Amino acid sequence: MGDNRDVSGVRREYQYAGLDRSALSSDPVVQFSHWMDEALAADPGDATSMTLATADATGYPSARIVLLKGFDQQGFTWFTNYRSEKGKQLEENPCAELLFYWKALERQVRIRGRVVPVSREESVEYFNSRPLGSQIGAVASHQSQPIGGRELLEQEVERLTKVGSVECPDHWGGFRLVPERFEFWQGRESRLHDRFRYSATDTGWHVERLQP
Ligand SMILES: Cc1cc2nc3c(=O)[nH]c(=O)nc-3n(C[C@H](O)[C@H](O)[C@H](O)COP(=O)(O)O)c2cc1C
Repeated sequence: MGDNRDVSGVRREYQYAGLDRSALSSDPVVQFSHWMDEALAADPGDATSMTLATADATGYPSARIVLLKGFDQQGFTWFTNYRSEKGKQLEENPCAELLFYWKALERQVRIRGRVVPVSREESVEYFNSRPLGSQIGAVASHQSQPIGGRELLEQEVERLTKVGSVECPDHWGGFRLVPERFEFWQGRESRLHDRFRYSATDTGWHVERLQP
């Protein structure tokens, strides 16, 4: 494709709703919970998918989607392979950001903080709750490592399927992002979007409106 592909005309208006300071909870986790309820109602299959942005020790960023598996005042949890690229980056540099884009609601939420591994018990409990196929997939895949062909992965899955059961590997488990900052974004007409940022302070959450 030689010619530059012009996509500059692709645009839409955002007019689903407004966001007012008075309607916001003083607790960002409660606010997130309200928005998650609405996102689940609007799009149950994809509401929990979130972009996880990490950076290595040199500062080079990487982003990918993972699935949120739980959240509370302690933080936001997902599960993965600790030896994956994201796992290695989080070991080098625990600072990360989560990003939710809820298209139907014209909303975006950013959550920044530090990431810690969840307890082994929590990881094993979640692992054992997954369908057997997903458990086998997690054991068979050396996530983020190159592989010569798909058939090698399929052979390993077949071998493990014959064994009949697998255990949660030590290198597989959960991470929890402990939030330090949230931003709630609601799209508005003519790009005059509503944005509110919550920052953690010694006395609680400080909320301010940001320009769009
Ligand atoms: C909708 C969706 C959900 C995903 N959920 C997960 C997940 O929960 N955990 C995970 O490790 N990878 C998940 N992935 C795959 C990741 O995006 C990524 O390819 C993989 O984790 C390897 O990333 P890394 O090499 O940066 O570590 C998901 C991908 C998509 C598109």
